[in-house]
Amino acid sequence: MKKYITTPIYYVNDIPHIGHAYTTVAADVLSRFYRLKEEDVFFLTGTDEHGTKVAGAAESLGKSAKDFCDEISFEFVKEWKNLDIKYDRFIRTTDAGHIKCVKTVLKELYDRKQIYKGIYEGLYCTGCEKFLAESDLVEGVCPHHKKKPEKYSEENYFFKLSLYKDKLIKILSDKNDPDYMEVKPDERKNEIIGKLKLGLDDISISRSKVEWGVPLIFDESQTTYVWIDALINYISAIGCKSSSGFNKWWPADCHLMAKDILWFHAVIWPAVLMAIGISPPKKLFAHGFFTLNGQKMSKSLKNMIRPSELTGKFGVDATRYLLLSLFPFGIDGDISWDALTKKYNADLANNIGNLLARTIAMVEKYFDGKTPSPGGENKFSILDKIMEFDTYMKNLEFHLAINVVQSAADASNKYIEETAPWVLFKKNDPKLANVLYGLLESIGIITIHFQVFMPNASEKMWASLGAKKSLMTASEEFFDGKIDFLLPGSKISKSPPLFPRI
Ligand code: MSP
Repeated sequence: MKKYITTPIYYVNDIPHIGHAYTTVAADVLSRFYRLKEEDVFFLTGTDEHGTKVAGAAESLGKSAKDFCDEISFEFVKEWKNLDIKYDRFIRTTDAGHIKCVKTVLKELYDRKQIYKGIYEGLYCTGCEKFLAESDLVEGVCPHHKKKPEKYSEENYFFKLSLYKDKLIKILSDKNDPDYMEVKPDERKNEIIGKLKLGLDDISISRSKVEWGVPLIFDESQTTYVWIDALINYISAIGCKSSSGFNKWWPADCHLMAKDILWFHAVIWPAVLMAIGISPPKKLFAHGFFTLNGQKMSKSLKNMIRPSELTGKFGVDATRYLLLSLFPFGIDGDISWDALTKKYNADLANNIGNLLARTIAMVEKYFDGKTPSPGGENKFSILDKIMEFDTYMKNLEFHLAINVVQSAADASNKYIEETAPWVLFKKNDPKLANVLYGLLESIGIITIHFQVFMPNASEKMWASLGAKKSLMTASEEFFDGKIDFLLPGSKISKSPPLFPRI
C-alpha cells in the first residue's frame, strides 16, 4: 500500500529550531517504519517562502527576497541531512512547478465560481500570517507572538468557505463518509468541530499590497494569500491535479503538524480541495509544542534551541530518540537540559548501552568472541514485550513504541542478573551458550525496532552482532515472522560505547 506522509513547509524567516525538527523527525520515523513494512512511501517536507513575514525578514537584512529564501531554505536542507532525515522530496514554494500549480488551482476555484471580490477589514498578525478576531487576542495581543495585530482594510478576493461548513463537520465526524478525514488527537478534532458549529466565514485569499507571492491569474494586481499558496504544496509536490504522481499518491495518508496550524489543515485545506473536486487528506495529526519554561519556542520570543545544540551534546541518533521519547506526541512538553540528560543516561547509556556492552564482553570472555550455539533448551525471548510496537507506531504514539523496546532491554538486563552467566561459566554449565545466544538475539530484535529512531547507531549495534544478514533483510524477515539472523561461530565485535554516559 502507498503512504504519503508530510510535514508542514516551514517559513524561511528563520533557520530551523528543535520545534521544526520535532515534526520532521516524527515524519521521518513514521516513513522509515512504513518502509520497513515494505509499504510504498512518499515523504514530503520543504519551505514556505512567500508572504509579508519572509519578505520583511529579507528586507531587514538588505537582501533580495529570493536570495534570502535560497539561503535559509538551504539551512533546512542541511539540517535535515544532519539529522538523517530521508525525505523523497523537498519542496519550495518558489519552485516553478509549485507556482504553476497554485495558479491552476486558483484559476479553477475562480472558474467554478468559488471566488468573489470583496472588502476585507480586520486585524492581521504577520507572525501567524493570519487574520485574528478580537476574541483571539489576549490582552490586546496575539497570544502566540505577543504582538498587537495590524489594522487591515483592502479589496481582496474571497473564497466561499462558508459553503462548506456542514460538509466539513460531516467529514470530520462521520467515519462512513467516503471523504472521512481522521483528525488526531480527538480533543483537537472536537475543538475544531465546536468552532465550526459556531459559524464559518468566507476568507480572503489574496493580497493587493504583498508583492512577494504568486500573482492571481485572473487579476495580476493581487497575489495569493500565503497560506493558500502553502497548502497547495501538498499536491504541487506530487505533480498537481490530474498528474500521474497525483493519481498515485493523493489523498495524503498523514499530514503532520503542531496544533497551531490545525485549523488551516482541517478546515481551509479540505474545503479548497472539495471546491475543485479533490478528496480531502485521510488523516491529520496535530502534536503539541515544545515549550521552554512554559512558553512556545519561537523566533519572536527569542527562546529557540537549535538542533545542533542537541546533536553536539547527545549525537544525532540520541537527539532523534530524545525528541520523540520525552513526551506523548499529542501534548505540550517543557524541555530542559536536565530532563534530556537524565533520559539519555537512563534509556541509552544505562539500559541499551549497558546491555550491549555486557553481552558482548561476556561473549568475548566465555566464547572467545564467537556467537555460541543456542543449544536445545528454551531460549530467552522478548517478543511478548515488543508486541504492541506496531500498533503504537501506527497510532503515532512514539513514546509508547519506545517504551516497549526499553522494557524489552530492561527485561534482558534483568535476565542477565537472574541467570548470572559468570556463575554458569564457573560451573562449566552448558546453559551458558543458550543464555548468551538469547541475549544476542534480543539485542538484534531491539535493534530492528530502534532503527527507525536511531538509524546509524542501529547499524553499529547490528555490526557488532556479526549477523549473517543485513539489518534490512533481517528486519523484513522479522516482520514476516521469521527470526534467523545470528550465525553460531561468527565473530562478534566490540565497538566503542555507542552512548557514553553524560
Ligand atoms: N509555513 C507554515 C506552515 C504551512 S504548511 C502548509 C508554518 N510554518 S512554521 O515555520 O511556523 O512552522 C510551524 C510548524 O513547525 C508547526 O506546525 C510545527 O510542526 C513546527 N513547530 C514550530 N515550533 C514548534 C514548537 N515549539 N514545538 C513543536 N513544533 C513546532 O506554520
